[in-house]
Amino acid sequence: MRVVDLIEKKKKGQKHSREEIEFLIKSIMDGSAADYQISAWLMAVYFNGMDIEETTNLTRAMIKSGEVLDLSAISENIVDKHSTGGVGDKITLILIPILQALGVPIVKLSGRGLGFTGGTIDKLEAIPNFNCALSMEKIFSQVKEIGAAIASQTTNLAPADGKLYALRDVTATVDSMPLIASSIVSKKLASGANNIILDVKYGSGAFMKTPKEANELSALMVEVGKNLGKKLSAVVTSMDEPLGRAVGNAVEVIEVIEFLKGNICKDLEEITYKIASLALIKEQKAQDEKQALEMIKKVVESKKALKCFEALISSQGGNSKVVYDYNLLPQASKKIEILSQENGYVSSIDAMKIAKASKILGAGREKKTDIIDYSAGVYLNKKTGEVVKENEPIATIYTNIKDTKIAADMVMEAFKFSKELPEEKSLIFAVIE
Ligand code: URA
Repeated sequence: MRVVDLIEKKKKGQKHSREEIEFLIKSIMDGSAADYQISAWLMAVYFNGMDIEETTNLTRAMIKSGEVLDLSAISENIVDKHSTGGVGDKITLILIPILQALGVPIVKLSGRGLGFTGGTIDKLEAIPNFNCALSMEKIFSQVKEIGAAIASQTTNLAPADGKLYALRDVTATVDSMPLIASSIVSKKLASGANNIILDVKYGSGAFMKTPKEANELSALMVEVGKNLGKKLSAVVTSMDEPLGRAVGNAVEVIEVIEFLKGNICKDLEEITYKIASLALIKEQKAQDEKQALEMIKKVVESKKALKCFEALISSQGGNSKVVYDYNLLPQASKKIEILSQENGYVSSIDAMKIAKASKILGAGREKKTDIIDYSAGVYLNKKTGEVVKENEPIATIYTNIKDTKIAADMVMEAFKFSKELPEEKSLIFAVIE
């Protein structure tokens, strides 16, 4: 078999066998396939696609390219949740303590954020001394003790994805459904959980721009998961507007704590509770959504989930006193309110503009080596559908940068207003199981 023959085959839109895909991944891993050959193959896949069998075979081969974690010693029912990335997306941080409180073991291996805002790990590292570099031994003992662990991915999971992704990034072949599906599912399946819930986002602040695309990607990933013997489900959710009111790192941690104290932002509630319900039903802890929601609300109202979050922070070396004293989190030297120039209702808030502003303020990174300012971010004093009066603050920016004008203007531009109350829409487009 030769790589050039596989490129030729895909160029003509023909189907690869399992052996061919395994050969290709092996050639990528041992360096016998040159980058220009892999790039040409990626472009052929981009134009001619792959069917479900090929996508499953690609995912399997990518999983086999590295280590596969075995979490069965902790439990056969470990849950993992993955989001395709959104602005102000702190769902994982609320979900973990809720599931912990309900006795559903959860192991979350996360990456750092790259792009406009921090990832889950960055957000947690805003808590002084919080340690995400956990050994497998520590993950095992912590999940046994408190029911959850969240760690940065240090193991060698699906390394073929790293190589392919780097080439996709520079050859304009990222946005190919089979390539995205195999990339995400291979990493998730290699992480060892049995019950994986994907939050696939669409909209201005997401990778997929339309619900149709997000739906198609979700259906593909769920099917690949099933073909590989795992319970994988997906919720397709809107990311036109930031989730919750906070975008940044420390500001998002505060919003998570406030949620767990009962100050609940409706959009965060809708998606978090849907994902938590799915997990409870799949783990057979609840019979249906109604029962699951009752269980979830109970652990939030009783503050049991808040206590679990405190336990998670302490167990990972963080200062859990932050739960009761936000001054212990990194503080920005500047806090600037953005004032409304209109009377009426907020009709929309562009997620991408808020994300870009937040990055300028210091909350995100462009290169892996960039340093994040944990105190920086944007707080939305007003969300869509809320009444606003002239000169009232619509947002607050937190930063240490000198010149705040560009970011402040961007935040202002993100807001649109109307005289009528905008229609309230569900953020959940579909659930695919
Ligand atoms: N996220 C991933 O992990 N891979 C992709 O291809 C796209 C988004």
